[in-house]
Amino acid sequence: MPRTNVSTTHTTISAQPRTHQHASEIQQYGTVTPMLPLELEEPVRLEMTEQLNLLLADTMTLRDLYKKSHWQVAGPTFYQLHLLFDKHYEEQVEIVDELAERIQTLGGIALAMAADVAETTRIPRAPRGREEAPVQISRLIDAHQVVIRHCRQLARRASALGDDGTNDMVVSDVLRPNELQSWFLTEHLVEVPLVHAAEPSVRKAG
Ligand SMILES: [Fe+2]
Repeated sequence: MPRTNVSTTHTTISAQPRTHQHASEIQQYGTVTPMLPLELEEPVRLEMTEQLNLLLADTMTLRDLYKKSHWQVAGPTFYQLHLLFDKHYEEQVEIVDELAERIQTLGGIALAMAADVAETTRIPRAPRGREEAPVQISRLIDAHQVVIRHCRQLARRASALGDDGTNDMVVSDVLRPNELQSWFLTEHLVEVPLVHAAEPSVRKAG
């Protein structure tokens, strides 16, 4: 008996991987999926994802600045700074993931690629060459300050818009670790003697 209703879209069974596939995007950057069960309106999620992407780009830049510093540091404090920079790098990796997944949770699209990050970040571009440790540390502190400033603005705005999840994440998972890392860096730039305490005549409190 002849078969009827044979599908015209059947595929050939084969072990050949289907490589080199291309298709148009399923969602454009800068948009959010319109309906999500989050009880947050689309305009709120649009504004929050836009702001979070700025914070993400700056955090990715700070993360990479730490790895650059970890590799290129020189001098008598090499060992200590080499380890500290990598510890902070690993913590920034975690923050990057938190930010990106918050953006996706809100229905947006997280920035991911280096070229897009470079076009978006507010942190000034570092030179390719090596810099001395105090300059590395100063550069890192300035980058933290960019992140910290934006965290405070974004947390307040998220709270005003009723996006408590973003407010909580920005304060707890981004702002506080950045404040702590900033403290660890700034203490390295305090001028205190290593062996001989300075004479009272050269001391200046405050
Ligand atoms: Fe390393």
